[in-house]
Amino acid sequence: MIVVAAALKGGVGKTTTAVYLSALASNRRAATLIDADPQASAAEWVEYAEDERFQRLEVVEAPTDRLLTRAINRVPPGEIAIIDPPPGHERLLGKAVERASVVVVPTRIGGVETARADAVFEMVPDGIKAGLVICSARTYTRDYRDAVTGWSEARVPVYGTVPERVAIAAGPERALSEDGLDAYRKVWRRVLAAARS
Ligand SMILES: Nc1ncnc2c1ncn2[C@@H]1O[C@H](COP(=O)(O)OP(=O)(O)OP(=O)(O)O)[C@@H](O)[C@H]1O
Ligand SMILES: [Mg+2]
Repeated sequence: MIVVAAALKGGVGKTTTAVYLSALASNRRAATLIDADPQASAAEWVEYAEDERFQRLEVVEAPTDRLLTRAINRVPPGEIAIIDPPPGHERLLGKAVERASVVVVPTRIGGVETARADAVFEMVPDGIKAGLVICSARTYTRDYRDAVTGWSEARVPVYGTVPERVAIAAGPERALSEDGLDAYRKVWRRVLAAARS
């Protein structure tokens, strides 16, 4: 099972989403985090974080098409891998998305963001499940409520909302945030359900 945190835009929450979902995926079994970003921020996060949730997580750095394809091919059957792609690299993202079981599209709230998320959904081949994760959300705002209503009317699945939290923004400097884990746990359940259906 291959899960991709897919966005073309930078700074929307791909790495945060990939790392939290990896922590949840590797809770009871082995899982792989494939870091396809040459910045390797996901790999560094897992390396520096002192969190037992990462004990069963294997991290593979695969910042080129060739390495990404190889990393995906090496995922043992029945095991979960989560891919963190770099921003702005449409070809690499395309490679990841076409091998995906489920595509998770991190987005922020805002006019342009909606169009950018749409562009990612268009890259997803027919038959592959995809849904949004609203990252760093200010859930008390009208913008948030309007965006959620808009996506619901457009029948875009929203797998979950992750609230804006200092403890999430701290990345590897702090332990994984409980609020973050709660929010991503809901996302993860949706991902598993989508993979099964
Ligand atoms: N729920 C959240 N609350 C607060 N800050 C958040 C949250 N989610 C992400 N962030 C912050 O937003 C910034 C961008 O997040 P992240 O690095 O995950 O995005 P990205 O899409 O991987 O970025 P890049 O394109 O640079 O790889 C980071 O500083 C991160 O800590
Ligand atoms: Mg990133």
